[in-house]
Amino acid sequence: MFLGLDLGTSGLKAILTDETGAVQATAHATYDNPHPHVGWSEQDPADWVTACESVLDALKADAPEKLAALKGIGLSGHMHGATLVDAAGEVLRPCMLWNDTRSADEAAWMDSQPEIHAITGNIVFPGFTAPKLLWLKKHEPDVFAKVAKVLLPKDYLRLWLTGDYISDMSDSAGTSWLDVGARDWSEQALATGHMRRDQMPDLVEGSNPGGEMRAALRDRWGITGTVVVAGSAGDNAAAACGAGCFAEGQGFVSLGTSGVLLAAKENYAPDAASAVHTFCHAVPGRWYQMGVILAATDCLNWLSRQVGRSPAELIGLLPETVNGPSQLTFLPYLSGERTPHNSASVRGAFIGLDVGHTPADLTQAVVEGVSFALRDCLAALSGTGTALSSVLAMGGGARSSFWRETLATTLDLPLSVPADGEFGAALGAARLGITAATGADPADVMTPPDIGSVVEPNGKLTEAYAEKWRRYQALYPAIQGI
Ligand code: XUL
Repeated sequence: MFLGLDLGTSGLKAILTDETGAVQATAHATYDNPHPHVGWSEQDPADWVTACESVLDALKADAPEKLAALKGIGLSGHMHGATLVDAAGEVLRPCMLWNDTRSADEAAWMDSQPEIHAITGNIVFPGFTAPKLLWLKKHEPDVFAKVAKVLLPKDYLRLWLTGDYISDMSDSAGTSWLDVGARDWSEQALATGHMRRDQMPDLVEGSNPGGEMRAALRDRWGITGTVVVAGSAGDNAAAACGAGCFAEGQGFVSLGTSGVLLAAKENYAPDAASAVHTFCHAVPGRWYQMGVILAATDCLNWLSRQVGRSPAELIGLLPETVNGPSQLTFLPYLSGERTPHNSASVRGAFIGLDVGHTPADLTQAVVEGVSFALRDCLAALSGTGTALSSVLAMGGGARSSFWRETLATTLDLPLSVPADGEFGAALGAARLGITAATGADPADVMTPPDIGSVVEPNGKLTEAYAEKWRRYQALYPAIQGI
């Protein structure tokens, strides 16, 4: 048996699979994501451990014999978070997350330093790990002085599981300390960020072994033999493993807390200035590119809190099918934006509010605004020469047929919707656990899912959505300085 653990922004998902990746049991636990100040986004790493204990308890209650036969674990996690531990491995402060933009000044400074783009292949975005440490040096120097290791969120879970300080190339590519082409820490980038190699975990490839589960934990959950923990992956690379995205032209669009349009790359071809991210894949010798928007379903969740109706209720207010863009426009920059704008200070807006607008209109505008932002990502990817021939739709927002149709029509791309079953980051993590523990070839294990349906763009409406997207694009420069 193999376990995939996906440490998401809103909760931890666990799936237990057999050696073919077929799901045997699942469990889920949630935790908080406080935003104590504007632009801040934090989590208590202790909550991740509690969530992990709770999913293991649930799996033991549900499938004790299968859990007892566990051989491999793969981890997936939200990227870029700075989990800071002292020499004893104790957490020094709450983790600053991927959508925490407090270090915008430090990011801009590091981004302007010589050769940083050439080394890291990316803009130093405010949500990345390195500028957070520069912020810490300035604002919490006592904590900075005690930092013995910086761990990405899923690697803190690994520390608890194994006792080892290890990370993988896919997640580490989002720190701004990695030479993404060479797949190793860069002394120059570390020095620019006032960090040292000894403060970094050791690096292994995601599909290779990266530690073994501690005996005390195996005993606690009745696991009988050795359990290998995979090098594992950042959540987007793990999702690509779950979706079988490795070849040029293959990609996915994910409507999760963040929104992602990802394209697999067989070679390393960065284009930092485009604000496209170029990161290592979770298997050796591969990379991927993606456009990232900071708030996708996060926008719907925000609206849901304001109007006091659940996201599902709001989606339920929408028509069965798409019948043309709304008069109302929503700019989804609730946490600032990465691709294509790289602005920590811009914020969201409704433009064109009318006295007659209802929660249904606001919801449609949110669905469209997020889709237009992903259209911006597609344009940025195309600008780097990356073309997508097939795109899988995944993430919570993709469960809405209205959202899928809006997105397919806005992107003017057919979206493949996987048949029921697992295909996301948690499955990708389990698959990494399989390759790490058995030595299987990733190409044999990480195949694409069966496709249940293909959502074609609505040809009668693509021009109307393209026109609305152009008007949407004109709004960013207008609100950016306000
Ligand atoms: C990617 C990014 C997000 C997080 C959270 O660069 O910041 O997609 O990984 O899912």
